[in-house]
Amino acid sequence: MSRTSYFWGVAGACILACTTLSAATAQQAMPPTSTQAVLARQDVMVSLETLLQAVEISAGDEAARSVNLSRTGAISAMLGTVPFLFPQASSPDALGAEADAPVTSADPAIWDNLEAFVSLNASASQVARDAAQAETVAALQNHTTALRAACTACHEQYLTYVSPFSF
Ligand code: HEC
Repeated sequence: MSRTSYFWGVAGACILACTTLSAATAQQAMPPTSTQAVLARQDVMVSLETLLQAVEISAGDEAARSVNLSRTGAISAMLGTVPFLFPQASSPDALGAEADAPVTSADPAIWDNLEAFVSLNASASQVARDAAQAETVAALQNHTTALRAACTACHEQYLTYVSPFSF
């Protein structure tokens, strides 16, 4: 690729990114509403599940190791956003007062001790970061098992599925 076309490729990507970003900003006032926070965290969680499952089915495959390191790196970065997706106003108790509030499976205990929640999340993010540095498939498999355990540890403590029949 020539220097000029490389320049325009990069410039084009920047313009596209800026346009997309400003469109998103225009649509969503900052700070996000409690509803947006709930929807965003559920979106992030579903994507975490998709990524982790992709790693789990191919962790033993040397040819997939490099893409799996990227996936676990992305998981770590996405977990890094979690503390920002649980503002006080998005607790089930606070949402209960809002009309058209989204259904959340987040346990109210999260907001009794946000520090403990954030700290558990930070350790899960660290497990994913370690996985992203695995130098062998055997190491990656061990880290992947530990990562799934870290997701489950938080869910056991802080996730309470709300039955659709309980209304
Ligand atoms: C520090 C706590 C914590 C960690 C770590 C965590 N989760 Fe979650 N997860 C939650 C909470 C809380 C909810 C419920 C969110 C809500 O409904 O508002 C949730 C919900 C989910 C859901 C259901 C989403 C939905 O739409 O109902 C999936 C799937 C999920 N998590 C996958 C994962 C995976 C995979 C990982 C690990 C890579 C992970 N989570 C790590 C706390 C955590």
